[in-house]
Amino acid sequence: MKIILIGFMGSGKSAVAKTLAKKLSAQAIDMDELVLKLSKRKSISEIFEKDGEISFRELEIKIAKKLTKTKNAVIATGGGVVMNKIIIDYLRSNSKIIYLKTSFHAISQRLSQSTDRPLFKDLKKAEELYNQRLPFYNYHADITIITNNKSLEKVTDKILKELKR
Ligand code: S3P
Repeated sequence: MKIILIGFMGSGKSAVAKTLAKKLSAQAIDMDELVLKLSKRKSISEIFEKDGEISFRELEIKIAKKLTKTKNAVIATGGGVVMNKIIIDYLRSNSKIIYLKTSFHAISQRLSQSTDRPLFKDLKKAEELYNQRLPFYNYHADITIITNNKSLEKVTDKILKELKR
């Protein structure tokens, strides 16, 4: 089984991937971590600053391609993968896509201390991005889970329930 977690920055994809993977005895994979490793930069922000967003997306394409062969894994994606057809098509192969849907209000509270999110520096711009991406998350989701005030445990249990349906 391969599970792909999609959703906006701060929707809890990485944390949910770890918890869910444990429960499923699967591997937890974080795309941002793999992209960072491949870039040889120190942070995601540094990739954006020194190489530009397009280079970041190219690295994401490479990682998504590699992940097509992965099995028995829960993959936390970067918030932008739904905007790139090449990336989402690679991710979609043999997988279930789960959208962690979180309100912008909840996200802005969670991310107020975040430092390594180049696309979440300006609140107004981030909200525009959120609204622009919402239909794409909805479109690509096989399963949608509302995460707003739910604990990690609750979100994970809800996903497990939905997967059994
Ligand atoms: C991005 C989201 C980030 C990271 C990069 C770009 C985006 O991942 O991939 O900063 O375009 O939404 P998270 O969703 O894990 O924060």
